[in-house]
Amino acid sequence: MQYQDPSFAAALVAWQKQHGRHGLPWQNTRDAYLVWLSEIMLQQTQVAAVLGYYARFLERFPTLASLAAASVDDVMAQWAGLGYYTRARNLHKCAQRVVAEYGGVFPSDPALLAELPGIGRSTAAAIAAFSAGRRAAIMDGNVKRVFARVFGIDTYPGERRTEEAMWARAEALAPDEDIEAYTQGLMDMGATLCTRSSPSCERCPMQARCVAYATGRTAELPVRKPKKATPEKAARMLLLVDRGQVLLEQRPAVGIWGGLLSLPELDGHLPLADAGEPAADAAVAAAVQPFGVMESLERLLPVMHVFTHYKLHIQPLLVTLSSRAALAGEQRYQWLDAGALPGAALPAPIKKLLLELLGEHRQARIF
Ligand code: ADE
Repeated sequence: MQYQDPSFAAALVAWQKQHGRHGLPWQNTRDAYLVWLSEIMLQQTQVAAVLGYYARFLERFPTLASLAAASVDDVMAQWAGLGYYTRARNLHKCAQRVVAEYGGVFPSDPALLAELPGIGRSTAAAIAAFSAGRRAAIMDGNVKRVFARVFGIDTYPGERRTEEAMWARAEALAPDEDIEAYTQGLMDMGATLCTRSSPSCERCPMQARCVAYATGRTAELPVRKPKKATPEKAARMLLLVDRGQVLLEQRPAVGIWGGLLSLPELDGHLPLADAGEPAADAAVAAAVQPFGVMESLERLLPVMHVFTHYKLHIQPLLVTLSSRAALAGEQRYQWLDAGALPGAALPAPIKKLLLELLGEHRQARIF
């Protein structure tokens, strides 16, 4: 079978037996209740955080039957502080299902385990391996990191195809013998040697076969989640100048640039590259109309501003007036003297745009 390599398991098992973790409270037992509880608590949670909870939980619920018979509130109270509380609700449901459907004895078949609440494919495999010595493959974040580095997998492990290929490797590499030490070894390596930052390659049993080590790419593997392309938006802004003043609009209190003064925006329906279309010019004239009669219209070069979540392309429309209308009760709008722009409460890119224009057009006497 593709990916088979018994020397991988042999190296890992030998390392785990000598250097791995051996004294954890859920080890050295085949009691499925003890193993299952530990594996659920250890999902997304570090060993150090689990130890105290595990001991207290077992004092309160020493058997599967006692857990199944408890109220969900009692279970939640014992879980309080450990986080990811769906785990506790599923734990309780799972205990009741095992009592009702399996007479209180956990199945050892990973496929059956994986049908119980809160037990995914990887957790099912860990429980089957530790409690019954069943040959089954685990695949969690730690194992993905180990595999990405050892095998030089340079596609994102969260991607379905990569994850499927990793599962296929895991299934092929799992040994028939010593599945407990092998499974624990994968967990131990991921947690203690092959850590995300500054892995201990000098002590690693996989060093000689590790693609990432050989090619100096332990820092790059596994590859991070690809960034989504930043969404882009466009806004047409009126730069209405008249007798040394510029028209500004106070923005709504909520949203971008909340409460700041800015340039009035035209509705964003027209495409940006609309220069020369009479309809587009008419649309600008109509937008200007409440403030006066448009005399000239010049489309300035667009400027770009990068926000955390998107890029904004601003198309400034420089408009002069042949006559100005009174600002009839429009509290949001105000004419501001060009000289007051440096001290005005304007968003940085708008202030920059205005001050550049001011510099350029002083000689041209637009202001
Ligand atoms: N993380 C998940 N399962 C574990 C286990 N059995 N031992 C240590 N860490 C783990």
